[in-house]
Amino acid sequence: MKVYKVKNYEEMSKKAANIIASQIILNPNSVLGLATGSTPEGTYKNLVQMYNSADIDFSQIKTVNLDEYKGLSKDSDQSYYYYMNKHLFSHVNIKISNTNIPDGSAQNGQEECERYDNIIDELGGIDLQILGIGNNGHIGFNEPDEVFSKGTHEVKLTQSTIDANARFFKTKDEVPKFAYSMGAKSIMKARKILLLASGKSKADAIFKTINGPITPQMPASILQLHNDVIIVADEEALSL
Ligand code: GLP
Repeated sequence: MKVYKVKNYEEMSKKAANIIASQIILNPNSVLGLATGSTPEGTYKNLVQMYNSADIDFSQIKTVNLDEYKGLSKDSDQSYYYYMNKHLFSHVNIKISNTNIPDGSAQNGQEECERYDNIIDELGGIDLQILGIGNNGHIGFNEPDEVFSKGTHEVKLTQSTIDANARFFKTKDEVPKFAYSMGAKSIMKARKILLLASGKSKADAIFKTINGPITPQMPASILQLHNDVIIVADEEALSL
């Protein structure tokens, strides 16, 4: 693991955007694995600025997102589909037909998970996977569990994740309790992984990701087994 310690959220966002831009420049046909949450928002903002100054071109880029809330349709303003359009897709020249996000409104969960895994396979896998991290060490929506997950699957969100995500919803009751998420195996198959973390609330998870035992109780710890992981984290996230 290569760990870049940066001062704060702004520096993390700039560094992460530079790494993603390098990937796009080196391989304009890249398949990017994308993440949501507050952590990558600044990164996407920087990427949009780079696009506006003509430094990068998304026209051949393909994307697969990590996860989506089950039960939210594309036009719900809390869906990850909405988030991606708001923060990135609508600001750059990416072809929407080249972007992929699990369909939260799918009626048949198993079919949707299989469809999503097939998309990743047909794209030839992920070149660069961007990850945030939950306070409990989850990546995508792979929550602490007895075993590591494999492909895309339906997840029952833990109370700590529901509580953490409640800030995006009007009431706690509106926070979805289930999601579709790429599995740990799918994430580990990405050729390169970029994990971002900012703030004190991530310090314990980041400490255990880097130093802790590799256990499905701390899903991000599996990244220790990947041979090309870059962590960009700020001083608070690395404070332990
Ligand atoms: C959600 C997402 C994760 C994200 C995590 C942390 O659970 N499914 O992909 O990493 O939240 O979110 P934040 O960056 O807002 O702290």
